[in-house]
Amino acid sequence: MKPVKVGICGLGTVGGGTFNVLATNAQNIARRAGREIIVEQVAARSLNPACDTSNTKVTDDVFAVATNPDVDVIVELIGGYDVAKKLVLTAIENGKHVVTANKALIAVHGDEIFAAAEAKGVSVMYEAAVAGGIPIIKAIREGLAANRINWLAGIINGTGNFILTEMRDKGRDFYDVLKEAQELGYAEADPTFDVEGIDAAHKLTILSSIAYGIPLQFERCYTEGISKITREDVEFAEELGYRIKHLGVSRQTEKGIDLRVHPTLIPEARPIAKVDGVLNAVMVNGNAVGNTLYVGAGAGAGPTASAVVADLVDLARTMDADASVRVNHLAFDKIEDVQVLP
Ligand code: HSE
Repeated sequence: MKPVKVGICGLGTVGGGTFNVLATNAQNIARRAGREIIVEQVAARSLNPACDTSNTKVTDDVFAVATNPDVDVIVELIGGYDVAKKLVLTAIENGKHVVTANKALIAVHGDEIFAAAEAKGVSVMYEAAVAGGIPIIKAIREGLAANRINWLAGIINGTGNFILTEMRDKGRDFYDVLKEAQELGYAEADPTFDVEGIDAAHKLTILSSIAYGIPLQFERCYTEGISKITREDVEFAEELGYRIKHLGVSRQTEKGIDLRVHPTLIPEARPIAKVDGVLNAVMVNGNAVGNTLYVGAGAGAGPTASAVVADLVDLARTMDADASVRVNHLAFDKIEDVQVLP
């Protein structure tokens, strides 16, 4: 079979990780995908010293990748809203499949992007957008496909969990830990997204749309971050036998779907209270399966690249098939009567 030719847009933490995982694990990936996945072109404002791009075509123009006739799939890893949206829509218009880790883009503009992809018969995949290396989108969409999802809840921002853990275990200052999370490549370009709960709200919006079959309604999610939590709060909680965790929670109620992200006191014996550092954890309750729990690294180069490459493998296996049998976003327009609570 012909190799799949990929254009990577953005060579930062996740782009660099994706480039390196594709090179390091090329043999395994080709076996699982049934064909080679090769990087045809990379677009980056500056080179990543962790990547050997000496044998790769590099441009500083992401739109050159989106319009390159030799590229089958673009991997959008530039982040943000406006340029990323234009890039993804340009790629779709040019008949390319898209893999993205951009939760802000999917949560806010996903419905428009999915409609454009459907019209063009291409796929948009975004496993890496939620919970880093945990294959949570695949778990809910495919693994739990038999269920009515009653609720889901989880730690879905690695930076915030890292900050709360370091404050508790080492008594460190909030902003000192945030700075380290930025240096480790965990935090968003604008870290207020992490500490004010916006990143978690983006992810909860995406998970909930898949879990309940509702449109993406980021603006309806109650959003509160961890920026007002002090070391004293963390210590008092511990004295009382609790951990403070920042959770995203959504559930079906009689009135509709409730979406919220906020700090929560969790009894220390609960499994989710022990999920520390950059780890994420998501619990999903389905009416047939009961409770399920998924844990893994929620941010960072390797874990996020793992999810990006999993989407590339899925695409490589299915991209020549009819669009109707490929994994795509659900047709939400058929169930718009489901209410999201304000
Ligand atoms: N800033 C995000 C986090 C990156 O810390 O969880 C992964 O989505």
